[in-house]
Amino acid sequence: MHAACRTLLRPLSLHFALSIRRQTGATYLHSFILQHTEVVTNHLTPELKLLLLTPRCKYWHVRPEHWPYGDPYWAIYWPGGQAMARYLLDNPEVVRHKQILDLGSGCGAAAIAAKIGGASYVLANDIHPVAGAALTLNCKLNGLQPLPFLSENIIGVDTSHWDLIVLGDMFYDEQLADGLHQWLRRCIDQHGTTVLIGDPGRGHFIDHPIQKQLWKMAEYSLPESSKQENYGLTCTAVWKYQP
Ligand SMILES: C[S@@+](CC[C@H](N)C(=O)[O-])C[C@H]1O[C@@H](n2cnc3c(N)ncnc32)[C@H](O)[C@@H]1O
Repeated sequence: MHAACRTLLRPLSLHFALSIRRQTGATYLHSFILQHTEVVTNHLTPELKLLLLTPRCKYWHVRPEHWPYGDPYWAIYWPGGQAMARYLLDNPEVVRHKQILDLGSGCGAAAIAAKIGGASYVLANDIHPVAGAALTLNCKLNGLQPLPFLSENIIGVDTSHWDLIVLGDMFYDEQLADGLHQWLRRCIDQHGTTVLIGDPGRGHFIDHPIQKQLWKMAEYSLPESSKQENYGLTCTAVWKYQP
């Protein structure tokens, strides 16, 4: 796994104190993103153009503690998100006319895929201070109006009605995985929500009790660049929660 990816897979709070000192206006964030990312298509959904961090970008080579706005989760297209977006683009009937929540949206690819597939409403949610701006720019890059975005933490709190909740690579931390499991269960029990999870087989996901309630829906080989950035991973998959 690339050093950047390895360092990133831990709770955001470590860098949040640094983040809040930075400028957070949309105009500034947009120019920051455009300056420090590149348009990338060599991933599992090449039909989507995404502004991402690459080895040609300055912050790829900078130690994470010096990155502005904290760890740039939003600037990486994680293997779980790639599987999720690929699955939604290939199976538009899963999203058509549905109300969808993309939880932990990062760069916004799964939300964008859901909208392209014909979802009636898509809300992207991510607590990272740059994720909303990244979503807006990536929507525009793919010919969409900016999608609604929510920056609050709704895990364990809000259980609004959603036809479908999609999650990409959200099981990277034990505490987060436990919280998600309980909250997803409540969403399913209260609203009959369908839940799809994209994950490349990370330890906190594969070893978690949630596994007993999941069915694998699709598996994909990762593109070469993603294999190199995520050392040891070769495949990624989409799972459906079947309580
Ligand atoms: C590994 S990244 C995956 C991003 C994207 N889904 C993908 O697969 O490319 C995990 C994302 O979850 C977000 N996140 C972490 N805790 C969260 C929470 N409590 N609520 C919403 N988003 C959260 C992070 O900011 C980050 O963007």
